[in-house]
Amino acid sequence: MKIEGSVALVTGGVSGLGFGAVSRFVRGGGSVVMLDINEAHGAAAVDALGESARFIRCDVRDRDAVADSVVRAAEEWGRIDILVNAAGVAPAQRLISRDGELFDLDLFKFVIEVNLIGMFDVTRNVAAVMSTNEPGPDGERGVIVNVASIAAFEGQIGQAAYSASKGGIVGMTLPLARDLASIGVRAVTIAPGIMDTPLLADAPDELKESLAALHVFPRRLGTPEDFAHLVQSIVENPLLNGEVIRLDAGARMPPR
Ligand SMILES: NC(=O)c1ccc[n+]([C@@H]2O[C@H](COP(=O)([O-])OP(=O)(O)OC[C@H]3O[C@@H](n4cnc5c(N)ncnc54)[C@H](O)[C@@H]3O)[C@@H](O)[C@H]2O)c1
Repeated sequence: MKIEGSVALVTGGVSGLGFGAVSRFVRGGGSVVMLDINEAHGAAAVDALGESARFIRCDVRDRDAVADSVVRAAEEWGRIDILVNAAGVAPAQRLISRDGELFDLDLFKFVIEVNLIGMFDVTRNVAAVMSTNEPGPDGERGVIVNVASIAAFEGQIGQAAYSASKGGIVGMTLPLARDLASIGVRAVTIAPGIMDTPLLADAPDELKESLAALHVFPRRLGTPEDFAHLVQSIVENPLLNGEVIRLDAGARMPPR
């Protein structure tokens, strides 16, 4: 599928990796709808991107809001060709803290609700919209790009909830691709390494340098542009499907 003339819906699209993808879509001649809870960033993103960008406030945990927002997003440009599921949260907590406190179950549920159930809910609603698209070459009607993490494979201390949520995305990638094949929609997951986004904005430089050193080569943090580049490749290459692609410069995360 070509970016030019396409319509993309991007959750978490007003910041970090999602905004990187959105910017690339717009530069490439596509139109975008960003779904996010951050209204201030949403307004700033629309200002920065111009006429081809729209923002809808939506908490991906809210089932009614997701269904309504996807319908509204489809109405903006008449269809949805590309979905990028980039909304996510990453709070960390040890299973048992040093003073004996247990991992907060509500925090565990919160992470699963945003990162896994929210992503699945947006996906099912958007897939229904994509199924009504006119098929392109190879009968393709849409492309779905999910965002997991290398923490799905090498979760660090404190990442039980985050890794469980991202592992769920990894696990559903192939069945999603199989389910969606009948409507001509591909599903691919990106598992980023350590990316320089607002998630890391407040980290001290020494921490950023030590994290960047986990990348084997090149020894720098990933950027939203690196991410957007891979999203574009996935969209454009019709044979990429049902796969999880690490974008991590060879990093393998240690326990801490
Ligand atoms: N930055 C990294 O190093 C890194 C590494 C691996 C994976 N990831 C994943 O990449 C994705 C994007 O992260 P990022 O680094 O760009 O962070 P970010 O904080 O810049 O962007 C995440 C966006 O998701 C939005 N969001 C959070 N909860 C939401 C909800 N309930 N409903 C709708 N939107 C919500 C936030 O408002 C924010 O705009 C996340 O899924 C994250 O887990 C990031």
